[in-house]
Formats: sequence, C-alpha cells, structure tokens
Amino acid sequence: METYKIAVIPGDGVGPEVLTEGMKVLKKAAELDGGFRFDDTWFPWGCKYYLEHGRMMDENGIEILKQYDAIYLGAVGYPGVPDHISLWDLLLTIRKSFDQYINLRPVVLLEGAECPLKNVKREDVNMTFVRENSEGEYAGSGSWLYKGKPNEVVIQDGVFSRVGCERVIRYAFELARKEKKSLTSISKGNALNYSMVFWDQIFKEVSQEYPDVETHSYLVDAASMFMVKDPKRFEIVVTSNLFGDILTDLGAAIAGGMGLAAGANLNPERKYPSMFEPIHGSAPDIAGKGIANPMASVWAVSQMLDFFGHEDWGKRVLNAIEAVLTEKKTLTPDMGGRASTKEVGEAILGKL
Ligand code: NAD
Ligand code: IPM
Ligand code: MN
Repeated sequence: METYKIAVIPGDGVGPEVLTEGMKVLKKAAELDGGFRFDDTWFPWGCKYYLEHGRMMDENGIEILKQYDAIYLGAVGYPGVPDHISLWDLLLTIRKSFDQYINLRPVVLLEGAECPLKNVKREDVNMTFVRENSEGEYAGSGSWLYKGKPNEVVIQDGVFSRVGCERVIRYAFELARKEKKSLTSISKGNALNYSMVFWDQIFKEVSQEYPDVETHSYLVDAASMFMVKDPKRFEIVVTSNLFGDILTDLGAAIAGGMGLAAGANLNPERKYPSMFEPIHGSAPDIAGKGIANPMASVWAVSQMLDFFGHEDWGKRVLNAIEAVLTEKKTLTPDMGGRASTKEVGEAILGKL
C-alpha cells in the first residue's frame, strides 16, 4: 500500500488545536479509500521549544524533515519570542531550504460561507493566488548600520532574480492554461522602478509562450480595490511575496474569514517536501480556548490530497467543509456559531 510520510509541526497558539482536527480528516480519507495511508511524526518545534532550547527547531531539523513526503504545519509565533526570530528560524527556513517557491492560496467563496461584500454572487469569488514564496521583498537581504546611534540606517532589499520571477510566472501560466482561466499579474511598476519593472517585463516575455491564455496586469493598489469592488475580474493571479501575503489575507476576508483560508507551499519539482498550512497565525487572542476554526487546516489537508494525486479525496474533503458550512449547525464563533474546534472537526468527519 502507498504510504506517505508526513512531518507534523503543530507549532504555537491555535496551531496544535486546529492541526489535531486536520490530521483526523487526513487519516479518515485514507481509511475510507483503503489504497493509501499516512505515517505521521509529530515535532514539538516552536516558541515553547525555543524558550527551553534556545532554538526554534532541532539543529538537524532540515535534514530530518527532508526524509518526509510532506510537512503539515499549524502556526508559528507567540508573545515572548520576537516574531522575526520565530518565523525566520522555522516557517521561513523551511520554505527557503526546501525551495518551496510556489505558494498556492485559493480564495474561493464556499457555499454557506459569509461574504462581507454587497451584490456579489458566490461564483464571483473564485480565484487562485500564485504567490512568489522564495525571494522578493521577503528575501531577508539588507543591513542595519550604526545600530542604536542617531545616524542609524536600515536597508531591506527586494530581491527579484530572473530565474525566480520566470519560474513562478511560468507556473501560473501553466495553471491558467490547464484550467482554461485568465491570468492576472499584480505588481507596482510605477513606484518600484527596478523590481516591478523587471517583473512586468518578465510577465510580458513569458506571456509570448502562452498566446491562448488571456492576461491582465494591475497595479497592487488598484487590484486591492477591485478585489473588493469587482472580485470576478480575478481568476488565476500571480504576484510577489509581499503583495501575495497581504492580498491573500484580504482574499480570506472576502471568502469567509481567516478561519477558512489555506495555503500550499510547493516545491513543484518534488526534490524536497512541500508544506501545507492554514494561512492564519497562532491567534494568541483565542488560543487555549478550544474555539479556533479548524476549517482552514482541513482545507490544507484537501490541498495535500490533491498534491499526492488523490484529487477525488481533495474534492470530497472540501465538499465536507462546505456541507458543514451550509448546515450552519456546527460552527465556531468566528463564523457566528458556538461550537468548539473539536466539534467542527467531528462534523466534517461525519460529512466525509
Ligand atoms: P492571526 O492570523 O494569528 O490572527 C488574526 C485574527 O484572526 C485574530 O483575531 C485571530 O483570532 C483570528 N483567527 C486566526 N485564525 C483563526 C482561526 N483558525 N479561527 C478563528 N479565528 C482565527 O494573525 P496575527 O494576530 O497577526 O499573528 C499572531 C502570531 O502569528 C504572530 O506571532 C505572527 O507573526 C504569527 N503568524 C504566523 C503565521 C504562520 O505561522 N503561518 C501566519 C501569520 C501570522
Ligand atoms: C503567511 C505569514 C508569513 C508570511 C509570516 C508569518 C512570515 O504571514 O504565511 O502569510 O508572510 O509569509
Ligand atoms: Mn500572511
């Protein structure tokens, strides 16, 4: 029987709460199918681990994770450890070490999910964001000169390589071609006169190879306005690391909230493991109360099943979330309900 080795990193805050439910759904899908199984190993890495060991993960963490077929991650970051340390030494290290240069984030309004926009039909909010996930504004390049002195200066570089831009843009074109959808590039070439002029140029170059794909190009400020005013303009979207980070939280807000938004960090060549996660953080304001919405982490399970080639199960898991949403009986407080994380997890299992 096909066995997939999964490294589970629950992390901080609500991470462990939502991942526990997600794992039950993943295992149930395998059990119901009978043709494949998941072998999961849990790693206690995160902020608590940092306070005990002075590091966010095992010294050989990356070597250890390399042996797995996929990583399933909850959330990283908690008061008590500076965010730039916790995130750079765990989540971002994994994305970079494993060259997970594609961050695939669906912004899809499921049946039953609340949309805060007026006059918008359900099918109007149906986008897939392809976020550049390895460089750009989050390359981690820069310097801090004369630290603490009156003349101190900080420089944060945006790093846009030809290879880095071409591969993410080409991935988005392939996806648009496969799904017969339009592709929109979001950039900011008017103000970012090196990085985004370069991005726009590469988008134009690569588009020559895909004459069958309808393309659009928006400046990021206008794009954020159109996502709210006229979301049906967007189908497949490709954008830089920073813009993709911000726009997918906006996307989450128009597609039912942070409790529903999932993302896949992909190494398309499959040389390294890919990583699946809810896009929300550790939500310290509700952590420990057992009321976090597990739907985003269950949606990440659906993405993982797709990635392993079990798209039928990926779809069934999504349908199960949708069935619980439509029924409106078992929902966490962020969705207007009174159910616990565990109850929602069980309701999804029931539908599956
Ligand atoms: P957040 O996503 O944790 O929370 C924002 C808001 O959304 C909060 O009100 C929270 O209660 C709510 N929310 C988030 N997930 C929810 C869920 N599953 N169910 C119900 N409500 C939910 O963002 P933040 O507060 O800006 O960040 C908190 C910490 O998480 C910080 O340390 C930050 O750096 C980190 N962070 C980590 C990740 C990640 O690991 N992928 C992503 C974003 C932020
Ligand atoms: C996300 C998060 C991360 C990112 C942070 C926590 C580093 O916001 O996955 O959206 O910006 O990529
Ligand atoms: Mn984010």
